[in-house]
Amino acid sequence: MDISGSTILLTGASGGLGTAIARDLAARGATLVLSARNRELLEALAAEVGGEVEVADLTDRADVARLAERAAECDVLVANAGVGADPAFEDLSVDDIDRVVDTNLRAPMVLAQAFAKAKVDGGEQGQIVLVGSLAGLAASPGTRLYNATKFGLRGFALSFRQEMEPLGIGVTLVSPGFIRDAGMFADGGVDLPPGVRTKAPADVAAAVARAIVRNPTEVFVSPTELRAASTLATVAPGFSAFVQRRLGVSDRIER
Ligand SMILES: NC(=O)c1ccc[n+]([C@@H]2O[C@H](COP(=O)([O-])OP(=O)(O)OC[C@H]3O[C@@H](n4cnc5c(N)ncnc54)[C@H](OP(=O)(O)O)[C@@H]3O)[C@@H](O)[C@H]2O)c1
Repeated sequence: MDISGSTILLTGASGGLGTAIARDLAARGATLVLSARNRELLEALAAEVGGEVEVADLTDRADVARLAERAAECDVLVANAGVGADPAFEDLSVDDIDRVVDTNLRAPMVLAQAFAKAKVDGGEQGQIVLVGSLAGLAASPGTRLYNATKFGLRGFALSFRQEMEPLGIGVTLVSPGFIRDAGMFADGGVDLPPGVRTKAPADVAAAVARAIVRNPTEVFVSPTELRAASTLATVAPGFSAFVQRRLGVSDRIER
């Protein structure tokens, strides 16, 4: 679908990747509805790229319902918001589980359903872009909630896509690996094993734009070797865990 002239709801717009995605889509001629919790950051971004601000907390069901109504009025939904850092096992509470599931999995599914229903009812086309992660293919120690929700989001995307295809609604999963310079990985300061390469926020933004225009099933934003290792982890998770132990991944995440 054409980006120029379209209205796009973008969640997680105040974050590292969301900001890059917003700038890229605005430069391509989209009108943006920028959503997150931090009004100040959203208003600063809206002053730069145009569009409107929709403050919403994705752990609040009333906010998600309101945002779903707004999504239904847009041409494209980019569900990008997410939370990454899992609390340590000893500190993990049920509230933590709810918070991560609500933000990373429940909210994108609710928004995608409302968006698709409105498009189908109105006889319109539309494009849904869900931002997943390589953590939706490969599990690592200490990231259990992140892995659970990103695995779940991938399953949702791949199923929903098949159901929506005959109805004219595109569904694409964008799966980044480690992104440098901005966003949750860069902010976390994780020390990668030697030789592990990263991508830039602009690469994620370009992948989102490609998803909107071409509606591919899944776009990986990672070096080939990382994608290959993550794909191998889907069929050989024990081997993947062994390699990660040898590389000291657990210590690196903790540090
Ligand atoms: N950065 C990477 O290396 C990387 C790699 C793979 C996948 N990803 C995925 O890329 C997406 C964007 O991540 P990022 O790196 O840009 O992270 P980020 O900089 O931490 O931004 C996260 C965004 O999600 C929003 N958010 C978090 N909790 C929310 C809540 N309860 N309600 C509403 N919005 C909420 C934040 O906004 P507020 O705090 O203002 O609410 C922020 O805009 C995520 O889905 C992440 O899993 C990132």
